[in-house]
Amino acid sequence: MKALILYSSRDGQTRAIASYIASKLQDTLRCEVIDLLQAEQVDLNQYQLVMIGASIRYGHFNPVLDKFVKRHAEQLNRMPSAFFAVNLTARKPEKRSPQTNAYTRKFLLASPWQPKQCAVFAGALRYPRYRWFDRIMIQFIMRMTGGETDTSKEVEYTDWQQVDRFAQEFSQIPYEK
Ligand SMILES: Cc1cc2nc3c(=O)[nH]c(=O)nc-3n(C[C@H](O)[C@H](O)[C@H](O)COP(=O)(O)O)c2cc1C
Repeated sequence: MKALILYSSRDGQTRAIASYIASKLQDTLRCEVIDLLQAEQVDLNQYQLVMIGASIRYGHFNPVLDKFVKRHAEQLNRMPSAFFAVNLTARKPEKRSPQTNAYTRKFLLASPWQPKQCAVFAGALRYPRYRWFDRIMIQFIMRMTGGETDTSKEVEYTDWQQVDRFAQEFSQIPYEK
């Protein structure tokens, strides 16, 4: 059985999560991991399951997510499918569910695609890797929301056990053989 894992990632954390999920599933599913930016030619008919992961930047998913979802909504809805969002708001456990994470809730409300499974993962904060402007902006947001403000720090908030559980659930979604 073949599963497609698509991701939209700016700084690599969502890509890392997508690859990790693929590695967790390798005993049960053949997984292909593809960047949404390179998914123009993807043929969903080649896969029995599909998962999409996307990160937030300045309040928004990459527009490539909406574009892909709109274009393939009908087929996505027919397939067993999963979605995960990655952002720093989710470093707070109470903001880490599809209902309590505003970006994810908003996306699901507006999306013509209704994934069967959905999760929100906390991302990573990597100050030294950001451009000056982004570093200042993120530091400001962190100050306002009680987060890490030391710009020499890199912090990974992702709960890998939560990712494990998500991968496990995904492998158990019923699909046509
Ligand atoms: C410039 C920038 C803007 C961000 N904006 C937000 C935001 O608005 N809300 C949020 O919760 N997280 C925000 N984040 C945190 C990212 O979602 C987080 O770092 C995530 O791990 C990035 O995933 P990626 O590495 O796959 O791009 C931002 C990060 C950066 C660098």
